[in-house]
Amino acid sequence: MGLFNLKMNNKVETYKWYEVEPSPFQLLAQEDQDRLTNNFTQLLNSVNEAAIYVKNVFDFYEYEDSRYPVIITKFYFGAKENTPGFFNMKDITDPLKDRPTVTYEYPDKIVLSDGSLAKVLVTYNYSDYLPDGFLFEYYGIADEIFVKFKQVDQYKAMKMLSAARLRAESLLGNRVTPETERKVQKLRDLSTIIGGSARLFEVYLYIVIKGKTNGELLEKEKRIKEIANARLLSIEVPKYIQRELYEFKTSVSAFTSFSIEKNFIDSISAGAFYPFISEDLIDENGVFLGISGSNSPVIFNPYSRNNYNIVILGETGSGKSMTTKVFLRRLRKKMNIEINGIDPENEYVKDVVAKELNVTPVLIKPGQKLGLDLMKFVREGFIDATDAAELIADLYYVPQELRPRLRRLFVSSDADTIFQFIDELKENKAEDLLKYLDAVESPPDSYVYDGIPIDISGNIVFGIKELRNQRLKVVVSSLLTLLLQKKILSGRQLLFVDEAWIFSEYPAVLNLLQEVARRGRKYGDIFMYITQRPWDVYNTPEGRTILEQAATAILLRQRAAATEVLQKAYNLSQAEIDYLLSANQGQGIIRAGNYKLTLQILVTQEELEKFSTSPAI
Ligand SMILES: Nc1ncnc2c1ncn2[C@@H]1O[C@H](COP(=O)(O)OP(=O)(O)O)[C@@H](O)[C@H]1O
Ligand SMILES: [Mg+2]
Repeated sequence: MGLFNLKMNNKVETYKWYEVEPSPFQLLAQEDQDRLTNNFTQLLNSVNEAAIYVKNVFDFYEYEDSRYPVIITKFYFGAKENTPGFFNMKDITDPLKDRPTVTYEYPDKIVLSDGSLAKVLVTYNYSDYLPDGFLFEYYGIADEIFVKFKQVDQYKAMKMLSAARLRAESLLGNRVTPETERKVQKLRDLSTIIGGSARLFEVYLYIVIKGKTNGELLEKEKRIKEIANARLLSIEVPKYIQRELYEFKTSVSAFTSFSIEKNFIDSISAGAFYPFISEDLIDENGVFLGISGSNSPVIFNPYSRNNYNIVILGETGSGKSMTTKVFLRRLRKKMNIEINGIDPENEYVKDVVAKELNVTPVLIKPGQKLGLDLMKFVREGFIDATDAAELIADLYYVPQELRPRLRRLFVSSDADTIFQFIDELKENKAEDLLKYLDAVESPPDSYVYDGIPIDISGNIVFGIKELRNQRLKVVVSSLLTLLLQKKILSGRQLLFVDEAWIFSEYPAVLNLLQEVARRGRKYGDIFMYITQRPWDVYNTPEGRTILEQAATAILLRQRAAATEVLQKAYNLSQAEIDYLLSANQGQGIIRAGNYKLTLQILVTQEELEKFSTSPAI
């Protein structure tokens, strides 16, 4: 009798399928790995039968003049029950239905309808020492991996185990070898676990390799076997049942010749099979950013995350603005989105940059009337009166003890303009407040509030560098942000704020930015917050919210002062922090949703020429 005496079970298995979003695994801290493997165990416990299908697509990624080989790995989970409620799962139709079919069978390989040759390897005899996430080791070579877990009825499991244990223990009486001792120990352990909350599963692991030639197939087979052997897994290519294996047929009777501890696995050990691992970031319809530490392209789509807030942090000269420009340019080519920006250093409003990004540059000059009347914004409902009072208090450094009064007066005011409000303060003889707020009435501030609002239609970037005074830049940027809120509601907007560290001392402004970002999420708006000195931002609760809530963070070269932020907000290890302290331009770490990988932003020659900031400026 052959090992794989497969009794065919031709009943079509009907699973409900989900696509699962993978995450890095080997990079994670032990407790994060444990969380994933534990969830996986619970997922298996929650269904009677689980099928996992991992599929590699070998492809090329082309960006302008360059061509990079890519592997895209897709993950699917199938069960007969409804939504499992673990991991990030998306309903899909049967991913197996479009696989090429078998057109010819050799004893040890098959020919497929797409003309390729394929071979299925089956592993068994799972060692006790399978490292967590071990399946990942095959992802670079295998074309497809199929794993099936079938829960064994608890009572039956106990019975099978005790029978097997008795058999093994009887061997102990004769000649004791380390092998039998280990086997007995394992069976004893297994019975205790199964007696508790754990389950016992039949497990099947099939690895499909494909090739155009026999040579290619043999080469892949050799590499797969090497990996399996290094993990003490037995692996072989069962003959005469290649078609059935390719069709992922499993049947209990197929494996009866194995002894129980080799084909069955308890749910705790099953955690090692945690499969949803990817060290690449390749979002569908994404924008090419560069390459990861393993030289695979990083293709990022902000819409693949659960929020569309992006922070870019790095010290001066680390490549933040270059990254932003390249990202905006590529995003515009890829999708329909309107760009709005606040540019404190007049980098994006330069002709060549504005033209390349297809935005209208608006250079704000000192003495120009901007019509950004805060009180009008309150009346129009862009901001509520309490927040506006807090904003004005921050912008004019009103001391804490006067703020409750300012808030009361502001909220109960009938004024239609900020100037009328100042008049009201005068009528009320609020000299203590006026000491701070009468600056509203005189230049340069009065120009900000006076006049009719500037046009914000279309793609628009405001260059505010010429407002030399930093506080004035903050006043104008925050009011412009408020004005831009109007557009936020129309959806598909992007708002970027570069040099955002200038807001760090103004919690009300940070709060405003954070609010705009939060509101925009509902409408598919992208908010980008770009800054040096992240520790300043992190110092206030409002700033911390911005840094911690963004689903995407691109961390470029940092100064040692940023260490705490990197540890606390982004959970980076010391090794990762050291890497960031000495990174080159455009080099860093991207953390996007569950992904965290090293990244080199790649710019084309053309982008470098157009987007570099010449030292003269
Ligand atoms: N990814 C990159 N590849 C090559 N050169 C880069 C890259 N990013 C930045 N540079 C170079 O470094 C300079 C400074 O980058 P910039 O984005 O202005 O820094 P930051 O905004 O962080 O101060 C750029 O003008 C460009 O010449
Ligand atoms: Mg910059």
